[in-house]
Amino acid sequence: MNILILGGGGREHSLAWAVKQNPKCDRLIVAPGNAGIAMIADCADINILDGGAVATFAEENAIDFVIVGPEAPLAAGVADRLRDAGLLVFGPSQEAAQLEASKSFTKAVCDASGAPTAAYAHFTDADAARAYIRDQGAPIVVKADGLAAGKGVIVAMTEAEALAAIDDMFDGSFGDAGAEVVIEEFMDGEEASFFVLCDGNTILPIGTAQDHKRAHDGDTGPNTGGMGAYSPAPVMTDDITQKALTEIVQPTIDEMRKRGTPFQGVLFCGLMIKDGQPRLVEYNVRFGDPECQCLMMRLGGQVLDLMQACAEERLSEMQVSWADDHALTIVMAAKGYPGTYEKGTVIKGLDSQPQDSFRMVFHAGTAEKDGKITASGGRVLNVTARGATLAQAHEQAYAMAQRIDWEDGFYRSDIGWRAL
Ligand code: AMP
Ligand code: GLY
Repeated sequence: MNILILGGGGREHSLAWAVKQNPKCDRLIVAPGNAGIAMIADCADINILDGGAVATFAEENAIDFVIVGPEAPLAAGVADRLRDAGLLVFGPSQEAAQLEASKSFTKAVCDASGAPTAAYAHFTDADAARAYIRDQGAPIVVKADGLAAGKGVIVAMTEAEALAAIDDMFDGSFGDAGAEVVIEEFMDGEEASFFVLCDGNTILPIGTAQDHKRAHDGDTGPNTGGMGAYSPAPVMTDDITQKALTEIVQPTIDEMRKRGTPFQGVLFCGLMIKDGQPRLVEYNVRFGDPECQCLMMRLGGQVLDLMQACAEERLSEMQVSWADDHALTIVMAAKGYPGTYEKGTVIKGLDSQPQDSFRMVFHAGTAEKDGKITASGGRVLNVTARGATLAQAHEQAYAMAQRIDWEDGFYRSDIGWRAL
C-alpha cells in the first residue's frame, strides 16, 4: 500500500513512524514533512491546503491511502476533493470538520443531541455580547467562533478581562474567526482528551491522554499548543469513559448522520470531568498534538489497519489490542515560544538517542542544513517514551531529553505531575 500523510509536525512524525511499522505499508510519503520524518519517509513539498494539487500528486504517485494530520486541510475540504477523485482518505468531510472549525456549530449539535456541555450564547454583535457578560458575571469563557490556531479562547476570571476579549475579537485581532463569538459558562474540574475513531456509524475508542497547555512548570505562563502529554489519563475511569461514549460521542455521531453529514475520522473530545460526570469542552476532528505521539507509541503498527478500516466503513470488524502500558512525551520548544523565538539554531545530541518501540524523539519543527538539524518552529522536538508504568515512561523520557544538547531550547520539568 502506498500511503500519503499530510502534515509536517510531531503528530505526523509519530503517525508516519507507526504506519511504517505495519507490513502493509510499501511506500510512505509525507507532505511537507520535516527533518525527522525525512529519515523514515519521502517528503514532498506540496500545498496541502490545495485539494486539487494533493489529488494530482496522489494520482501521479499511485497513492492508495491518504491520512490527513492537521485540521486546516480538513476545514478547507481537502478530504472531499480527494474522495471525489476516488481516493481512500482518513479524515472527515468539510461539513463534518465544522465540529472543530465552528464553536457555534458544535454547540448547536450538542443542543440537538443532548450532549452535556457548558451553557452558552452566540453573538455577532459586540454590544449584545458585552451586555450578556455584564449580566452573567465572571468567571466566563469567550471564544472566537472559527479556527484561531488555539488562540481564540479566553478563560476570563474577571468581567473586565471578558469585556477586553470582546473588544479584541470585534477589532479583528482574530481575523475572520472573531466576527462571531460564543460566550460560555466557566466549567471547573479536571480536563482529559478522549480519542474515538468513527466510520460514520460505528465508534471505536482508541485511547485517552492529558496534556499540559501552559508554557512553564506548575501549569503557569502563557497558553501554548501543548508542552507535553501522557496516556492513558487516570481520570478517564471505565465509568467516565462509558458515560462519555453514551452521553456525548454516540449522540454526536448520530446527530451528524441524521444531518446527512456523517463524521468519519478521529474525533478528539476535550472533556471536563467533575463529580464523576464528563462534559464536552470542545471537539477537534484530528489527533491532538502532542497527544498523538503518546497514542502512536502505544498503538504501533495496528493504527494503519484501524485507520484503513475507518475509511472503508469497516470499524465494526475491528478491535484495538492494548498493552497495559503508559507513554509520556515532553515537548522541547524554542526559547521565547509561544511568543517570538529564533529559528535556525542548531540541535546536537540527536544521533546518540535510542530509537525503538519504547523510545523515540519525534521531530515537530526541524529542518536539515549542511548536515545539521536545526529548529524551524516554536515546538521543535517531542521526546517520547513508553513503559509499564507512567513513572518508568517519565524517567526514560527525561533521561533522553537531558542528552539533547540545544542551548536555545527549553522544556517543562513536570510533565505528568498530576498523575505521578
Ligand atoms: P478549546 O480551544 O475550546 O479547547 O479551549 C481551550 C482551553 O480553554 C480548554 O482546553 C480549556 O482549558 C479552556 N476552556 C474552554 N472552554 C472552557 C469552559 N467552558 N470552561 C472552562 N475552561 C474552558
Ligand atoms: N494539544 C491540543 C491540540 O492538539 O489541540
